[in-house]
Amino acid sequence: MKRQSFLRVAGLAAAVSFSACKPSGSGGGGGGGAAGGGKLVVGFSQIGADNPWRTAETESVKAEAAKRGIELKFSDAQGQQEAQISAIRSFIAQGVSAIILAPKVETGWDAILKEVKAAKIPVVLVDRGVTVSDPTLFATLIASDFVAEGRMAGEWLVKKSGGKAGIIQLEGTTGAAPANDRKKGFEAAIAGSPDMKVLASQTGDFKRSDGKNVMEALIKAHGAAITAVYAHNDDMAIGAIQALEAAGRQPGKDVTVVSIDGMGFAFEAIKEGKLNCTVECNPLLGPMAFDAVAKALKGEELPKQLVQEDRLFDETNAPAELPNRKY
Ligand code: AHR
Repeated sequence: MKRQSFLRVAGLAAAVSFSACKPSGSGGGGGGGAAGGGKLVVGFSQIGADNPWRTAETESVKAEAAKRGIELKFSDAQGQQEAQISAIRSFIAQGVSAIILAPKVETGWDAILKEVKAAKIPVVLVDRGVTVSDPTLFATLIASDFVAEGRMAGEWLVKKSGGKAGIIQLEGTTGAAPANDRKKGFEAAIAGSPDMKVLASQTGDFKRSDGKNVMEALIKAHGAAITAVYAHNDDMAIGAIQALEAAGRQPGKDVTVVSIDGMGFAFEAIKEGKLNCTVECNPLLGPMAFDAVAKALKGEELPKQLVQEDRLFDETNAPAELPNRKY
C-alpha cells in the first residue's frame, strides 16, 4: 500500500492498538519502559547528523524530552537504514514506552514495525513517511507536505524565469520521501511550461559536499545552458552556489537558485543575493512528537499525518524574517 493512500484514511484509530502501553516502570517488553526506573522512557532513532537541518531536529527532540522529564534513548544511525532497524530492535529489548522514528527511506520497514507492534509499543514517525502494508504499524506521521514544497518551488521558478530555464535538479537521498515528493511536486509545477527544461537530475544525498561535487560535474557537462538550480535542500544549494562561483558563474544573478528547508544560513545567502528562494520545512518537531507520544500512550486517536505548514521566502520577505529564524 502506498504511503499516500494512508493519508486518505486519516483518522484511523491506530492508537487503539497501543492503549495497553503504560508509561515507565511497569516491566520490560510490552512498552512498559522499565529502563527508566519510574521515568517515561522513549527511544529516538535518527538517520544521522549530516546536515544542520537534521541536527536541529535532533536537538528539538532532545530538548523537549529533557523539558518533560522523559528519558530519551537516542540512536544516530549514521545514514544506515540497517542501523536504524537494529536500534529499534534494541529499544524493544530495553522496554521503552514509545519509539520516535525519523526513517531514512520510505520502504523496508514492515518487518521491524511488526515486531514493534507485537511488543505493543507505539511508533511516532517524524519528518519522513514510510510505505508499509498496514497503516496501524505507526501511530502518526508528523511532517511537512513535501509535494507541496516542491510545487511551491516550481511555481516560483516558472514565474521568476518567465517560463524558460535550463534547470539542474539536485535530489535528496535516493528513496527518501522528501526526495521522491519534492521531485514530484516540482516537476508537476513546471510540466505546463515547455521551455522549462530539466537538463539533469542527480542525487546530492542532502549533503553540501555532495551537492558541490555533483554540481561541478554538471557544470562541465552542461555549461552555459544552466540558468537555474533546484536543490531539494538548502545545504545542497549552498554546495551548488560554491561550485557555480568556482566556475565563474554568478549564482543568484545569471543562475537562479531555489531550494527547500528555510535554514538561517539560506536566509543569509538570500540577503547576499546568491540564493533566490527557499521554501521552509520546519525541523523543530520535538514538541509535536512528544504530544503525539502522550496521546498514543493514552490510547487516543491520532490522524495518520499531522502536517506542518510551510512558507516560501525570497528577496521580498526573507530580510524581514531573518531575525526571527529559530533554526
Ligand atoms: O526529511 C527532511 C529533509 O531531510 C530535509 O529537507 C533535509 O535537509 C533533511 O536531511
